[in-house]
Amino acid sequence: MMYKIFFIVILGFCLTSVATAQVCVECHKKVTPNIVNDWQLGAHSKNGVNCEVCHGEEHKSTQDVAKVRIPTPATCSTCHQTEVEQYHDGKHAKAWAAMKAMPTAHWQPMTLMEGMKGCGGCHKIGVKTEAEIKDLKKQGAGFGLASCDACHTRHTFSLEEARQPQACQTCHMGFDHPHWEMYSSSKHGVRYLLKQAKALPDTTPAPTCQTCHMQEGNHAVRTAWGFLAVRLPLPDDKQWADDRATILKALGVLTPDGKPTGRLDVVKAADVARLTQEDWQKERDKMIKTCNQCHSANFAFEELGKGDQMIREADHLMAEAIRTVADLYKDGLLKKTKTYSSAFPDVLTFHDAPTVIEQKLFVMFLEHRMRTFQGTFHMNPDYALWYGWSEMQRDLTEIKTIAAELRDKAPKKKK
Ligand code: HEC
Ligand code: HEC
Ligand code: HEC
Ligand code: HEC
Ligand code: HEC
Ligand code: HEC
Ligand code: HEC
Ligand code: HEC
Repeated sequence: MMYKIFFIVILGFCLTSVATAQVCVECHKKVTPNIVNDWQLGAHSKNGVNCEVCHGEEHKSTQDVAKVRIPTPATCSTCHQTEVEQYHDGKHAKAWAAMKAMPTAHWQPMTLMEGMKGCGGCHKIGVKTEAEIKDLKKQGAGFGLASCDACHTRHTFSLEEARQPQACQTCHMGFDHPHWEMYSSSKHGVRYLLKQAKALPDTTPAPTCQTCHMQEGNHAVRTAWGFLAVRLPLPDDKQWADDRATILKALGVLTPDGKPTGRLDVVKAADVARLTQEDWQKERDKMIKTCNQCHSANFAFEELGKGDQMIREADHLMAEAIRTVADLYKDGLLKKTKTYSSAFPDVLTFHDAPTVIEQKLFVMFLEHRMRTFQGTFHMNPDYALWYGWSEMQRDLTEIKTIAAELRDKAPKKKK
């Protein structure tokens, strides 16, 4: 194994830097005792991976703390090349870029973005460019660069912690992606939690997030549909093709007459949508193989097909709502925000949408449409129905009611 070679390298490295290691640890036992304790509990301390391996040797005293190095995935790749390469091929590496690509990113308080208390708190899992790292340093201490500590947290960097579904919980929860809530109350999650509580034997089969999304420990997380569930090319089914095209217009990816916009390039760069049938199919086939560890392939194929059908159903309601708002712009009954690129509402404006009806549209898209199909894919009937589909129906009714009121109130000059 690679580790053997590294072990020798590390051993050599250790012998020459035992002195430094001692210096760091001795002082930090007083300065940050729990960090030293945490590190001592993990595999690194037992393999000579000392403080200075990740933080450099330049800071050695209380006076030169500013010289310390904050590790990035590149720091880990000296010894864990495979995991780092896989991570770069997956969606987690794209998370910082995806966040910054949002059209409303610069409207949010800095603390929630680069300060990593909101969007940035989860999206920091993404890799940052050298320029972005410099920028973060200018604004503060420049933490949040490591990415790899998202699941095996510092300084134990425990394998066992990363294997538990709770490792994903902090980020995969809540408003627009309640994976934890859906999973932990699905039969899959309930069984696994009962195993953790020792009510079921260790050998009971029960999938974790990692079983389905990090097959064979592969760090390249990526699904067939992805978050927005708008793959290309458009489907053969005429109604669904029209509905999806409408959604792509409201995402600002297509112009009102169906031509690609500049935002499509951003979508491509951040791997936001699968752009070919083959790319989609490859991920789907991997998933069916995973279900097949416990279920029949036939069962898995049927179950995942139901998720696809719920995307189709949800898209139909969504498209009707989008067209209702777009028609208000067209008929001059609702003022289109200057920053919107087209004659369509921009659902990516999120909570910054200027009117109640446009806000409804955003909630319908990001909260309720997501839950409709995410709940289906995660075996959670309550999310698929009450928190998803049922809410979408109610959103649509409200949007149509507000639209009708606007039309009633308008001066009767048109037909
Ligand atoms: C003589 C004591 C001393 C020694 C030796 C020492 N440090 Fe520190 N280190 C500190 C102090 C003090 C701080 C600041 C702690 C604080 O802000 O609470 C610090 C902070 C840090 C930080 C956090 C930086 C930050 O901005 O908060 C890291 C990482 C670190 N040290 C690593 C090391 C490493 C690696 C070594 C050995 C090469 C080392 N330290 C040696 C005293 C020491
Ligand atoms: C100088 C080499 C080196 C560097 C740099 C390094 N590691 Fe390790 N890492 C090791 C060795 C050696 C082990 C123990 C290998 C084993 O047990 O098979 C290990 C083990 C691990 C484990 C498994 C822990 C367990 O519970 O078994 C994880 C996770 C890990 N490292 C993550 C990281 C991350 C994240 C970084 C960067 C922040 C990093 N490592 C940097 C050498 C390194
Ligand atoms: C620190 C926050 C964080 C943690 C922890 C985290 N994720 Fe993520 N995850 C994200 C973000 C942010 C994205 C969106 C990245 C993008 O697409 O740009 C994401 C995307 C994904 C995707 C890709 C979906 C797609 O578009 O196809 C999968 C799958 C995934 N995560 C699974 C997991 C699993 C499984 C775990 C736990 C083992 C986990 N994540 C832990 C933040 C996190
Ligand atoms: C609680 C953690 C969390 C917060 C806060 C958060 N996100 Fe995310 N974000 C995620 C996760 C997890 C995903 C992946 C969800 C999925 O694939 O179902 C994601 C997906 C995305 C995507 C889609 C990426 C893709 O390629 O599909 C974008 C863009 C995005 N988030 C932007 C933002 C912005 C902008 C904010 C703040 C307004 C924000 N996020 C707040 C965790 C978070
Ligand atoms: C395998 C790599 C690795 C090793 C070894 C390591 N650290 Fe860290 N350390 C990290 C990572 C990753 C972070 C978080 C950086 C970020 O926020 O981007 C960190 C952050 C820190 C911080 C600042 C954040 C905080 O929670 O206060 C201190 C202090 C620190 N390390 C001290 C130490 C000391 C002391 C040792 C040795 C006993 C050590 N580290 C060994 C990877 C490592
Ligand atoms: C989304 C959560 C997540 C993130 C982020 C993550 N890991 Fe892991 N890592 C895991 C899981 C889960 C395992 C255990 C896989 C298994 O069961 O074989 C693992 C295993 C490992 C191992 C042990 C591999 C082995 O077979 O011994 C190393 C080393 C490691 N990760 C390093 C990293 C590095 C380096 C990064 C950053 C590029 C990283 N991890 C980021 C979840 C994560
Ligand atoms: C039994 C397998 C399974 C488990 C367990 C599971 N997922 Fe999923 N997940 C799926 C399937 C199937 C999809 C849809 C894949 C597709 O697009 O075809 C999916 C999709 C996703 C997506 C992309 C957006 C979406 O929801 O459609 C993310 C992110 C995700 N899962 C995260 C998680 C997290 C985090 C956990 C644990 C809390 C988890 N999953 C547990 C099977 C699973
Ligand atoms: C590690 C084993 C394992 C994996 C992998 C797995 N499941 Fe399950 N699944 C179970 C168990 C155990 C149950 C609970 C059995 C019951 O409900 O009687 C279950 C229940 C279900 C149920 C609800 C109960 C039913 O029979 O209607 C569905 C639907 C389901 N799984 C679909 C999937 C799909 C789709 C995948 C792949 C994305 C998958 N499972 C992956 C073990 C697994």
